[in-house]
Amino acid sequence: MGNVFLGSIREGLANELNDLQPTSVILLADDNTVVKCLPYLKELLPDSKVITVPHGEQSKNLDSCIRIWTELIQLNSDREAVLINTGGGLICDLGGFAASCYQRGIRFVNMPTSLLSMADAAIGGKTGVDFAGYKNYIGSIVAPAFTWIDPAFLKTLPLRETKSGLAEVIKHAIIGSPELWDMLEGSTAIEDMPWEEILKKNLPVKLNIIESDPFEKGIRKVLNFGHTIGHALESYYLTTSHPALHGVCVSLGMMVESKMANIIGILEKPVLEEIVTMMKRVIEPLDYHLPEYESLARWLKQDKKNRAGQILFSLPDRIGSCGWNLAANEEVIQESYEWLVQGVTADGRLNLLR
Ligand SMILES: NC(=O)c1ccc[n+]([C@@H]2O[C@H](COP(=O)([O-])OP(=O)(O)OC[C@H]3O[C@@H](n4cnc5c(N)ncnc54)[C@H](O)[C@@H]3O)[C@@H](O)[C@H]2O)c1
Repeated sequence: MGNVFLGSIREGLANELNDLQPTSVILLADDNTVVKCLPYLKELLPDSKVITVPHGEQSKNLDSCIRIWTELIQLNSDREAVLINTGGGLICDLGGFAASCYQRGIRFVNMPTSLLSMADAAIGGKTGVDFAGYKNYIGSIVAPAFTWIDPAFLKTLPLRETKSGLAEVIKHAIIGSPELWDMLEGSTAIEDMPWEEILKKNLPVKLNIIESDPFEKGIRKVLNFGHTIGHALESYYLTTSHPALHGVCVSLGMMVESKMANIIGILEKPVLEEIVTMMKRVIEPLDYHLPEYESLARWLKQDKKNRAGQILFSLPDRIGSCGWNLAANEEVIQESYEWLVQGVTADGRLNLLR
């Protein structure tokens, strides 16, 4: 799935790019990262061209791909051009997919700038766009030429986005690393977290899983923990005037799915409580109104992991271990979701440990 480098782009990025011998380098950014991140990168790549799309999940669609393909043509980009996706998960997913189709595929580099994309979205080769109201429904699994993670980009990331990214780091700890979990439990304010150290522990969890199952035939499904409920919530909020952050939806999803694991008897209550306590750091105060369970059903029924009409989940059985392809009946899903809804107080606090 391509080499992954962690460290300053000043130390080696130019050499890695030279090795690709590109005829041109195009930077893809959104209207935030073009201002906050591109000046730092442009110092190293003064001759590169820039394509921008509006920020936010609403840009993750085929219209944005058409815009990128049109601009690539206008820039005379040939098959040896390299697209550098400079942004969060939106830019990495969108740019990777657009690059994988342009002239039947040009090379791309992921340069994640949000915590969520450094910890998760830029790694593993999943690319794609949302379609017909469903998350990531059109896409491909295709390797970037390489991924370069420079934590210096995080200096300009708003706190709410940092919290959203922390959700995927917590997911990796729950599904595969008690050591990372202990590190997160022991750390203090989110603003002061040692991101480079945390990423060093986080990355092997995802890399080891995708190396053993690149096309998600089995164990890779554990990376979807929290995402069955999370994607349904995210898709629901995209139909409202108040779209929700991916990490917030995944955090809510991880709590509901942990509760499901507890109800079906594979996760002990003290561990569920530990997970809820950790999630509070990402979620509180919650400023989204949770929809009725019935509003989520449409998306749950269309989840990409479903088989033969069964909604399948990846559920943890302890910190550091997670199963997959676990079917749950509708009553358990609904009971767990209602547990969450009833546990959110009017001021957005979580009162779930009762
Ligand atoms: N491919 C995968 O394996 C995978 C995994 C997890 C999530 N995802 C996808 O990732 C997306 C979410 O990623 P995200 O949370 O990074 O969202 P995002 O790309 O929308 O970025 C979040 C916000 O942060 C801004 N931003 C990014 N870097 C910045 C910086 N350094 N300084 C200032 N602002 C900055 C962006 O402009 C945007 O407004 C979702 O579409 C999700 O489906 C994909």
